[in-house]
Amino acid sequence: MEKLEQLYEGKAKKVFKTTEPEKFWIKYKDDATAFNGEKKGQIAGKGTLNNEISAIFLCLLKEKGVDNHFIKKISSTEQIVQQVEIIPIEVVVRNIAAGSLAKRLGWEEGKELPGTIVEFYYKNDELGDPLINNDHIAILGLALDSELVELRKQALKINEILKEYLFNKDIILVDFKLEFGKTPAGTIILADEISPDTCRFWDAHTKEKLDKDRFRRDLGNVEEAYQEILRRIGGSINV
Ligand code: TMP
Repeated sequence: MEKLEQLYEGKAKKVFKTTEPEKFWIKYKDDATAFNGEKKGQIAGKGTLNNEISAIFLCLLKEKGVDNHFIKKISSTEQIVQQVEIIPIEVVVRNIAAGSLAKRLGWEEGKELPGTIVEFYYKNDELGDPLINNDHIAILGLALDSELVELRKQALKINEILKEYLFNKDIILVDFKLEFGKTPAGTIILADEISPDTCRFWDAHTKEKLDKDRFRRDLGNVEEAYQEILRRIGGSINV
């Protein structure tokens, strides 16, 4: 298989067409942004770390029956995925109050939630990815009601699988963001990445942040935190 022209460059990844139909070539970058691109930087080794971390999580989910776009890793920073058309909705799942939820509702960060919260955000950089509800989604024509039921169902299942897996590695899954896509056949499957860029991971004992909040909040040791996540989930690469 060969890499063809670039289809898209996002903040953390590039997507290329390939010589094989229905397969995309993804390259993970070291670039890091926060606050809708206002803060820009680089995290040394992030492309390599997130490529491996995401591959591990997406394989785990496949094993547990959650179909997703991952096919195979082909280099330290690249993976082949199934072609999908991304649904422009960011699905956020929250187990503990943090980040924008804590701010919006005036809750203390770290507050345990009595139930899981699923939120939808409109994936639109110009608007800064605003929080939206089912009615906004219907009027914007982003997804059908039945598709939202499916997104929520898959997101909750993914949460249960990842929460339990990470709990056994002494990691608390505070919250995370998912993106889904439609295959050419019209099936909705999980896409994008699952990494410290898109999840909040806290050490179960010290509550130390092991994710991109270290970059967003200038806490230092960003690369070390990503390496620690990979170490705990048993990654094979040495970075
Ligand atoms: P938030 O608390 O800032 O809304 O973030 C919730 C979760 O979503 C957190 O785990 C980080 C992730 N996230 C992204 O992956 N991309 C984004 O653009 C934002 C704002 C959050």
